[in-house]
Amino acid sequence: MDPVDRIIAANSPDHARHLLIVDAPGLADEGTARAGRVSVWCDDIRDRALVADELLIPRLDAAALADVDLVWMRLPSALGGLDEYAELVAAFAVPEVQLVAGGREKHLSRSMNSALARHFSSVAASLGQQKSRALLASGPSRAGHLSWPKHKRLDIGGEQIDLWWHGATFAAGRVDDGTRLLIDHLDRVADADRYLDLGCGSGLLAALLTRTHPDSTVAAVDASWAAVDATRRTAGAAVEAHWASGLDAFDDQSIDVIVCNPPFHRGAAKDSAPALTLFAEASRTLGPGGEFWCVFNSHLPWKSRLSQLIGPTTLITQNRGYTLTRSLHQ
Ligand SMILES: C[S@@+](CC[C@H](N)C(=O)[O-])C[C@H]1O[C@@H](n2cnc3c(N)ncnc32)[C@H](O)[C@@H]1O
Repeated sequence: MDPVDRIIAANSPDHARHLLIVDAPGLADEGTARAGRVSVWCDDIRDRALVADELLIPRLDAAALADVDLVWMRLPSALGGLDEYAELVAAFAVPEVQLVAGGREKHLSRSMNSALARHFSSVAASLGQQKSRALLASGPSRAGHLSWPKHKRLDIGGEQIDLWWHGATFAAGRVDDGTRLLIDHLDRVADADRYLDLGCGSGLLAALLTRTHPDSTVAAVDASWAAVDATRRTAGAAVEAHWASGLDAFDDQSIDVIVCNPPFHRGAAKDSAPALTLFAEASRTLGPGGEFWCVFNSHLPWKSRLSQLIGPTTLITQNRGYTLTRSLHQ
């Protein structure tokens, strides 16, 4: 068993009536042995694929939490993600609920204890084991109202956008510097019928595309539920938002223009593999002459990879942090 999963299980009561497992698909079997009923929530659709269908819940909401007395959770990398989960558990699980949240010691911070302490009267840390540790919370304080998801009004070049985000949504209410660079050049993307925001986060790029191309189709894809739900709220019904990893839902040559601020890590680990897989997927789904607009950290050697995987790639602009390119599919 993975050390983080092990420390969660080791610091937990032996039995529960209803165990909820959050973002820890590797604990499903252990949970089934310990609890009368097990439900599993995974924000990342790739994690859901690792869990038996009958254990998965479609939403993490009041109904899913109604009789939960034990929660096992891998600590989210974003503090807001932990705050949102803790708020939901405290609001809707039974009063005697116990929450056991585990992570690698190098990723733990005091702020995580504070996030839990906003929603539970008792918060303690386990002893460390194999460079991992668990945070234990009990005594839920029921919130009068839920503070997640959050939203705010942005003025982007004169367009008023109501930006929504969950705790785990990328950039969490900020406009990421890379995204900003792409926004500043969004008027240069081709006029086309079918646009896609690949790895849409809060859906800002998709929302802007619906404003500038109101007669076109705009789709958005993200592997994270926190992103897809935020996109549905930010961009509304004008965007077809898919909770998916990659582009299986799209036929070959079915898209004209893709905009993408790709992932350069998964969880806390830096990793180029997911982005390179997305580039290959983009190549399959773009029609001839289709455009792939991509913004990425300037130190990454992705311009040549884009040329190999999609087609001739032009440097549009670059600053100290970010590079913006356009690749033409052939
Ligand atoms: C750098 S963020 C960009 C988000 C948003 N487009 C923006 O600019 O603010 C990358 C996004 O890609 C998503 N992502 C990561 N792997 C993915 C995959 N295999 N398929 C779809 N989306 C993915 C992440 O969840 C994240 O929201």
